[in-house]
Amino acid sequence: MKQFEESLEALRESLPGQPEFGLVLGSGLGPIAECIENPVIIPYREVPHMAVSTAPDHVGRFVAGRLSGRQVICMQGRLHGYEGHSPGAIVYPIRLMKLLGVEALILTNAAGGMNPGFVPGDLMLIEDHINMTGKSPLTGPNDEALGPRFNDMCSVYDVRLRRVAERAAADSSITLRHGIYVGVNGPQFETPAEIRAFRVLGGDAVGMSTVFEAIAAAHCGLPVLAVSMITNMAAGMLPQALSGQEVNETADRHGGTLQTLIRRTLELL
Ligand code: HPA
Repeated sequence: MKQFEESLEALRESLPGQPEFGLVLGSGLGPIAECIENPVIIPYREVPHMAVSTAPDHVGRFVAGRLSGRQVICMQGRLHGYEGHSPGAIVYPIRLMKLLGVEALILTNAAGGMNPGFVPGDLMLIEDHINMTGKSPLTGPNDEALGPRFNDMCSVYDVRLRRVAERAAADSSITLRHGIYVGVNGPQFETPAEIRAFRVLGGDAVGMSTVFEAIAAAHCGLPVLAVSMITNMAAGMLPQALSGQEVNETADRHGGTLQTLIRRTLELL
């Protein structure tokens, strides 16, 4: 807990107010942070015990301030397993946000569509996940002050928050898909055989983030809202190769829609 206290002290020194919501911005979705009014920027490297993000286009800083009338603390750039970060390091900032007193966590990510009814640019509300990384951020000694050794995972993706996001989508004439997110380690994209297997398991979208953050949030009792942007069809769904460039281009092109959804959701919360 001493580590947390040192990190919290550094954050609290700079924060403009008590944050109500934590936001994690996925690949190409960082521009949402540009809409924060009077933003206070805190690079991860200025927060003791925080790992630093190295993923392309993930700048690696907290941006705090007002967004749609709510006090938010935003992670512009997240930490991924494929960068070599441990699951514990990846969720460290999630626990910091809980300790700062946020009411809920909003996670966004870029994902490959496995549901044949999806098209790139679609937004998918995550109803549940399948953790295919083989790892957990809760491995190792349990800090009872954060949460229980064996925590329930039956309602990670808070139903009330999902209803609010659905209302926000309807208000903004945004089509919102629903589905199951499969979390993998990456950094390689999946093989077509893996995607066929994940579809049999019940997955609708696949990505390289989110599951550890959601597990840590569930552990410490933080309600989660999570939205995937389908940036590409997953491997083997179309007769074409995948690329990081396609992911970023789709995220750039449709980022505004996700921004509208998040902003309206914050207004309604
Ligand atoms: N697979 C894994 N992660 C992803 C994908 C994908 O197809 N698209 C965006 N992130």
